[in-house]
Parts: sequence; structure tokens; C-alpha cells
Amino acid sequence: MANVIVIGAQWGDEGKGKITDLLSRSADVVVRSQGGVNAGHTIVVQGKTFKLHLIPSGILYPNTECIIGSGTVIDPKVLLQELEQFQSLEVSTENLFISQTAHVTMPYHRLLDMASETRRGKHKLGTTGRGIGPTYADKSERTGIRIIDLMNPNGLQEKLEWTINYKNVILEKLYNLSPLNPEAVIEEYLEYAEQLRPYVVDSSLKIAEAIQKRKNILFEGAQGTLLDLDHGTYPYVTSSNPIAGGACVGAGVGPTVIDRVIGVAKAYTTRVGEGPFPTELHGKVGKLLGNRGAEFGTTTGRRRRCGWFDGVIGRYAVRINGLDCLAITKLDVLDELEEIKVCIAYELNGKTCNHLPSNAKEFAQCKPIYETLPGWQQSTTNCRVLDDLPQTALSYLKFLAELMETPIAIISLGASRDQTIIVEDPIHGPKRALLNVNGEPVSSTFD
Ligand code: GDP
Ligand code: IMO
Ligand code: MG
Repeated sequence: MANVIVIGAQWGDEGKGKITDLLSRSADVVVRSQGGVNAGHTIVVQGKTFKLHLIPSGILYPNTECIIGSGTVIDPKVLLQELEQFQSLEVSTENLFISQTAHVTMPYHRLLDMASETRRGKHKLGTTGRGIGPTYADKSERTGIRIIDLMNPNGLQEKLEWTINYKNVILEKLYNLSPLNPEAVIEEYLEYAEQLRPYVVDSSLKIAEAIQKRKNILFEGAQGTLLDLDHGTYPYVTSSNPIAGGACVGAGVGPTVIDRVIGVAKAYTTRVGEGPFPTELHGKVGKLLGNRGAEFGTTTGRRRRCGWFDGVIGRYAVRINGLDCLAITKLDVLDELEEIKVCIAYELNGKTCNHLPSNAKEFAQCKPIYETLPGWQQSTTNCRVLDDLPQTALSYLKFLAELMETPIAIISLGASRDQTIIVEDPIHGPKRALLNVNGEPVSSTFD
């Protein structure tokens, strides 16, 4: 039995969907606990591509239960479209469960998200425009609508009438937008409620029962460490807690039930949306990474900004999440490069800086200090065991593992399930905490 958190170690889109799908073969339950339809997780199985926003990436396994937990925010319209996608492909959604205490993204949340971005002008955050910030803001302000409210039509009508009239004042007076028609919204959402009703459960109780039965639970992260509301690159962050600790809060489990935390990181870095990005590449190499890596947002289709691997961020992700091991994805994207740079520290005001500055202005001034490594200039997409990898690729991975003092358990070399090297058992293999006498991670992996 093992309960495992899979977390994004960078700015999102690290390949969490692929890794979750891969590990789900030994999971009984997969839980999403943070974020909403801002997430876009891609799974490629037998040539078919699935894009998931809310449904956990374990859904392709018929016996795996998938839970959308309390800490998520649910846009019913998008969720129902996702359900249809799977039903039309004859993938069963019988094992999907939705938390009754998750908050609901309403039409006014989407409108307010987009309106506030427009109002911010050049100071915009570059959100996905999916209403995520306003939904979490209402949750904190205690004016949110929860799934449990949707399940109670009478109470819902009263609550929504009040809330929509209140939001209409903001839409009209602050943003000069047309007001929403409360009756039409209520009717639409009552219809969604009936379609979602069969899936709604007390999710933390369901997870607790699974824990009691010693089932294997996988907590699928959304977004990434640097997008965390408390520990990310504020204000250029999302409005939830994508870090490992957030998985416990969002699922409603105590930290003592977690056996392992796996961090997913690309072999380089990407970021979508605004905000400082020290290793960003604006020239030819950045374009090459974007094109080879097909770096377009799963949710918004925006071009992702690309840059070299940032070890300062990597070490930060290890610390903030307590990572036990890493899954390094998209190594194949580097295949053509003659040389590859890795940021080992920053230079800030003439001094070396080994830690992520909390101040966004300081972070924007950080200049990366690079170590340059040779590329391998050959395809790795068909490698299936470590010995298949070119020596220079192994050296690159060893460098990353040492930089982050964390063993690499999984290497991904393509979008499909089989384009993967399992270096060590990611769930039961060596943990980062087990260091040898020299303080090095216990891993003979690349030696
Ligand atoms: P997530 O949000 O962390 O689940 O990541 P996304 O699905 O948004 O973005 C990752 C993209 O990279 C998807 O299109 C995946 O199919 C793809 N992908 C995942 N792993 C690999 C890999 O090792 N190599 C390549 N070339 N593509 C990958
Ligand atoms: P997955 O789960 C990458 C980014 C947005 C924006 C910031 C705030 O696929 O890794 P929001 O709409 O959340 O208020 O936007 O966060 N962002 C993501 N970037 N992957 C994601 O999810 C993201 N979810 C939000 O681009 O910069
Ligand atoms: Mg994504």
C-alpha cells in the first residue's frame, strides 16, 4: 500500500497527466485536489490523445476510482463536456466521483476574470481566463457556491439570485459590462446539477474509507510549485495551492497518510502567462524547444515561453514539496542540441544567489549563472532502458539529480505511455531522505 502525491515542480505543464496515467496502473484511487479548468493534462494512449481539465488522469483504467476533491473549483459546463468526450469514446466514467464541498465556477467568475485582466492592462497576470481567481476569491470571502448548493434547488435559487444581483453591480458599474440574467443562469445551473448529481459524494469520507482498506491512492497535482498562491512567484501565480501540502488540504487527508511525493519536471523550463522567467530563451533555441516540445497551452492554446532548466527552482521545489524523487519529462525535446545549459544559481546585485527571491522585482532582476553541458544530438525517443541512452544524456540527467540532490526515478522521452524509462521504482524505490555518508542521494542510477 502506498499513497503518492504527483506534483508539478516548475510552472505547470510538466507532464503530470502522462506520469499520473502511467502510475495509475498501480493505483486504486486517483484524486485531483487543487485548481479547476485552468489545468490541462494530456494523456496519449495507443495513438489517442485525451485532454483533461478536471477529470483525474486515472480515468482510462476501468477499475480505478477517480475523485475530484474538495479543494478544486468545478466549472460544470466544462466538466460535462469532458464527461461526454469520454462517453463518446466508450471510456467508462462510472468510477468518477465529485466532492460535494468543491466550489463552482459560475459565469460571473469567468467574466470577472477576463474583465480584471483587461483592466490591469500591461500589469495583467496572463490568467487562463477560466474564472479561477474569482471562484477562489468568493470561496475565501465566503460567498461561493458549492456543489452541495447545486444539489439543493430551493436554497440555490435564493442564494444565486442574491449573488448574481450583487455581481451584476460589479459587472455593470465597475466594468461597464452587460448584467447577467439571474433566471437564465439559475435554470442553466439547475440543469447541470441534475446531470452531475449521480457523481456527487462526500469525497474526504470516500478517501478515508479507501485509506482504511489500505488501497493505493494517487494524488494528482495540477499547475506547479511556482504557481502556488503562497509559495510561488506571487503575484504571477494561480489562486490555489498546487504544492504537496495543498494535496492534503484539498483532498481532506492528514499528511501522515502520504508515503511519497514525486516531482515532475521538464528537462528544460516553460511558463505560460506573465511573470519573471530568468532562464527564458527568446532566440533560435527557445523557438526550437517550443516547436519540438509542441509548447502550446492545453487549455488556452497560448504559446508557452521556453527556457533552460533552472536548478534554483528545482531545488526550491524539492524543499517546498519535500520531494522524494523526480520524473524528468521531455528529454527527447533536447535531442538536437549541440550544447545544453543549466542554471545553477542566479546573480543578483552583483552577488550569487542560490535561493528563489520572494520579491517579484528582485526575481525579475536575477541573471542565471549557467553550467554548459554537451548535447547528444541523436534521438532518444526509442530508448526504453538507461543503457539505451547516449552517455551525454546520462551525464545531463546525473547533473540534474546532483543539482537537486534528488534521485530521478522516471525519464520520459515522448508523450506515449511506453516512451518512458523507469529508472527506479518511483513508489517503493530509494527516497531523497536516504542520503549516503557524503550527503549524496542514495541512487546508483547513473554511475
Ligand atoms: P501537465 O499539465 O503537467 O499534465 O502537462 P501538459 O499535458 O499540459 O503538457 C505536457 C505536454 O507534453 C503534453 O502535450 C504531453 O503529451 C507532452 N509530453 C509529456 N511527456 C512528454 C515527453 O517526454 N516528450 C514529449 N515530446 N512530449 C511529452
Ligand atoms: P496544468 O495543471 C500552466 C497559469 C496561467 C497564469 C497563472 C494564473 O496544466 O499544469 P489562472 O487562470 O490559474 O488564474 O492563471 O497560472 N496556469 C497554468 N500554467 N499549467 C497550468 O495547469 C496552469 N494553470 C494556471 O497561465 O500564468
Ligand atoms: Mg497542462
